[in-house]
Amino acid sequence: MGGEIKIQDLNVNSFIDEKVEEIRRIVGSGIAINALSGGVDSSVVTALGHRALGDRLRSYYIDTGLMRQGEGKQVVDLFAPLGIEARIVPAGREFFRALKGITDPELKREAITQTFYRRAFKKLIMDSGAKFLFHGTILTDIDETVAGIKRQHNIFAQIGIDPQKEFGYRIIEPLVELRKDGVRKVGQALGLPEALFNRIPFPGPALAARVLGEVTPERVRIVRKATAIVEKNLSGTGSFQYLAILHEDRVTGVRDGKRAFGMQIEVRCWESHDARIATPTRLPWETLEKMAGQIIARLPEVVSVTYNIAPKPPSTIEAV
Ligand code: XMP
Repeated sequence: MGGEIKIQDLNVNSFIDEKVEEIRRIVGSGIAINALSGGVDSSVVTALGHRALGDRLRSYYIDTGLMRQGEGKQVVDLFAPLGIEARIVPAGREFFRALKGITDPELKREAITQTFYRRAFKKLIMDSGAKFLFHGTILTDIDETVAGIKRQHNIFAQIGIDPQKEFGYRIIEPLVELRKDGVRKVGQALGLPEALFNRIPFPGPALAARVLGEVTPERVRIVRKATAIVEKNLSGTGSFQYLAILHEDRVTGVRDGKRAFGMQIEVRCWESHDARIATPTRLPWETLEKMAGQIIARLPEVVSVTYNIAPKPPSTIEAV
């Protein structure tokens, strides 16, 4: 493994054959687990691992309490017809406990990482007897972590952490040479439905990457609702990614003729190929207006809706 396979050099079928062989060699007759979030990378890694190991790869959907509306059931239902069974593991309480009182973005990411790897995955590893954990890490995750931009939730070896020593299991990352566009091609070739391999990216820390300030069940509920509205309104744009962010600061507003010190939602919608650089989509004013109208109608706590028009860099795609 190592280096980058550029999209124009990617021979999808031989990539899949090589990875299948490599996975079989590493895992031998053992079993492996993976956390299937339903995001593009974890879906592709699940399909690839399943092709290599069949039922010896156990897939779990960890319900962190930070996922989007109805996401768990949706993911399980999308994989069932492929013969891949994903079990839902409820873990919301544990994640919210770990996030309590934390407002610093990198500490929030760290709390999520620790809860995943030291608690949730470790328990699954111990219960299943597996020695390997599959990861959907891609090259962009590594670049940003190594550059110190964001500590992506799934990066270890590249920043000097040995998972075997730290957590007691080995991590297998078959997609690390690819970027998002390559991952999508592999997903398509593995027979994933378009609803999966063409899904907009969604980060490992989930909605916590979109809540500025403390991540509480109530604040996640608000951003989850706003996210559902944004996704519904923008799914036809063909944009790379679109999302809602809940700000920490409140602003003065007015509701029913009375002062309301309310919450702010920021909408972002990105044009990008590989998430390294991105520009805001030039959305029609009518689309923005309609979406903002729905957010303020359905979320009485919110008094301000903004649209980010700064590119990445200096912005990033997620807010945390
Ligand atoms: P940023 O916000 O760094 O995001 O511009 C770049 C791309 O990566 C996604 N993202 C993540 N994906 N783990 C992931 O698997 C993470 O911790 C993470 N943080 C951001 C983000 O949604 C965007 O597509």
